[in-house]
Amino acid sequence: MSQSSRTDAESAKPRKLLLRALAGERLPVPPIWLMRQAGRYLPEYRETRKDAGGFLNLCFTPELATEVTLQPIRRFGFDAAILFSDILVVPHALGQKVWFQEGEGPKLEALADSRDLTRLSPTALHDKLEPVYETVDRLSSALPDETTLIGFAGAPWTVASYMIEGGSSKDFQKAKTWAYGDPEGFQTLIDLLVDATSRYLIRQVQAGAEVLQIFDSWSGVWPEPQFRRWCLAPMAEIVRRVKSEHPKVPVILFPRGAGLLYADVAAEAGADAVSLDTTVPLAWAADHLQSQVTLQGNLDPILLVAGGETFESSVESILDRLSGGPFVFNLGHGIVPQTPPEHVAKLLDIVRSRPS
Ligand code: CP3
Repeated sequence: MSQSSRTDAESAKPRKLLLRALAGERLPVPPIWLMRQAGRYLPEYRETRKDAGGFLNLCFTPELATEVTLQPIRRFGFDAAILFSDILVVPHALGQKVWFQEGEGPKLEALADSRDLTRLSPTALHDKLEPVYETVDRLSSALPDETTLIGFAGAPWTVASYMIEGGSSKDFQKAKTWAYGDPEGFQTLIDLLVDATSRYLIRQVQAGAEVLQIFDSWSGVWPEPQFRRWCLAPMAEIVRRVKSEHPKVPVILFPRGAGLLYADVAAEAGADAVSLDTTVPLAWAADHLQSQVTLQGNLDPILLVAGGETFESSVESILDRLSGGPFVFNLGHGIVPQTPPEHVAKLLDIVRSRPS
């Protein structure tokens, strides 16, 4: 276990705020970090990115990935740092061609049907992901004592959707048609991803990650039965496998767009926290979820671009409604490149200057 995750008695230091909130403690000032807190809204990120020679190169060069992870910590002093990488390093490590086109987002050599699964192999998984583990290791010594290190991966459905669509998609027609028409073949892909993702996350913990978050950014596109089969069950299985190796590592799930099914995720997935998307009503979340799991979220990232009175009153209202139980302040989805860094500083001021 890394030095930074020792408890009070061992280190005579207060335990980190994020770990306390994820253990179910209600804190007067909640810990705060932001999804995608390292990225293009920061001039220092754009500078490092310019010289990295491609986005995947940035993810796979430990020195640079460590640097960009630390940039938002230096500038804002968030309570947690999230490993700088991407959810698409897993398909890359399974042998699929992945590249990032400037201004167009990710591109992959798409899988057309279950016959294409023979193009994937988990044998080189850890070799290809070794630079990521090295980044985690470097970060666990470089971070300030009070900052928690979060590792992450994409959930099987969200990652599978990129593997089949060949990039981002509006309606997920190819991936959903495959899943509806050939559920056994699609299950084989999901199982392969459950396996690779569990092994990937377990290695991140061994390298020093203290918390894990699983991003199911596109879970909101399914009817209930398919949500259960392709989103909830695979995430629950990953949590089970990670916890059978590392029972104490807290896991946060982000089933974006799950709506009422957030209640089932909170009750059934075995996670310590759920990250709420922007649309989840706060009173409902406090009543139906917070007695079972820590809640994280859920400021609209566009309010952080807009700033002003609506931004400030929305932050206050999230604090009012969710600070009655275990809570971690975050956005409802990733920060966008247009965000003025001053608005992020203002957000930290409001959250930290208002004990409740
Ligand atoms: O949170 C952090 O600071 C850690 C880094 C992180 C990135 N991607 C870096 C990144 C994390 C946690 C992710 C997760 C990720 N990646 C998700 C799940 C979260 C979400 O936002 O829904 C998804 C769906 C992806 C796939 C992906 N990667 C897309 C769709 C894009 C293009 C969109 C964009 O913002 O450009 C990426 C690229 C990407 N991943 C960038 C960053 C900083 C921008 C690349 C660049 O610098 O050009």
